[in-house]
Amino acid sequence: MAALAASLLCSIQFAFAQDDAPDNIKAAYSEGGRYYTEDDIPTYNVGEDGSVDWLTYSGFRRYHSECHVCHGPEGEGSTYAPALKKSAIDMDYYDFIDVVTNGRRQVNASQNSVMPAFGTNPNVMCYLDDIYVYLKARGTGAVARGRPSKKEAKSDAIREAENLCLGD
Ligand code: HEC
Repeated sequence: MAALAASLLCSIQFAFAQDDAPDNIKAAYSEGGRYYTEDDIPTYNVGEDGSVDWLTYSGFRRYHSECHVCHGPEGEGSTYAPALKKSAIDMDYYDFIDVVTNGRRQVNASQNSVMPAFGTNPNVMCYLDDIYVYLKARGTGAVARGRPSKKEAKSDAIREAENLCLGD
């Protein structure tokens, strides 16, 4: 995707150590304002002064405009749909992306459970990593409920990738 290509152009800027977190969580490096694990999986970062990375902040807003009606506020889950703050930790990143892109349904005599496909919705697809890292931060408890009060500035790389993705 364009967003990925643009972020790969930026050089590695920082190295991090967050020793107590599991490996699909721990930020190992940062590129253009995005944070990744050792395996190049997007993840969140909380700085020493408590500011969250831009994607986590953006993900909070995107989640609450596109997902919370079914999945409950702040990834907590509802009677209808699972708690995504848990799914984001437990599921493989690529499976998470696949379910959001293509949807999933279990409709039979005993249940009627439909996760819509968002593959053609730019308001979701251009912010999938944002939503994913926000939910991981909620899952570990690194980010409390509510709008994160301190955040990193939006980087040029993130802004460019967003414009490319939205076709602006
Ligand atoms: C119309 C209601 C609805 C909306 C809106 C919705 N979902 Fe879902 N989602 C569901 C339901 C229901 C399931 C369970 C599907 C199943 O039983 O297979 C689900 C499942 C999922 C799963 C799999 C979770 C797991 O643990 O297996 C992911 C990931 C997911 N949704 C992400 C999202 C994201 C991200 C958004 C917002 C962009 C979103 N959903 C918006 C209803 C919704």
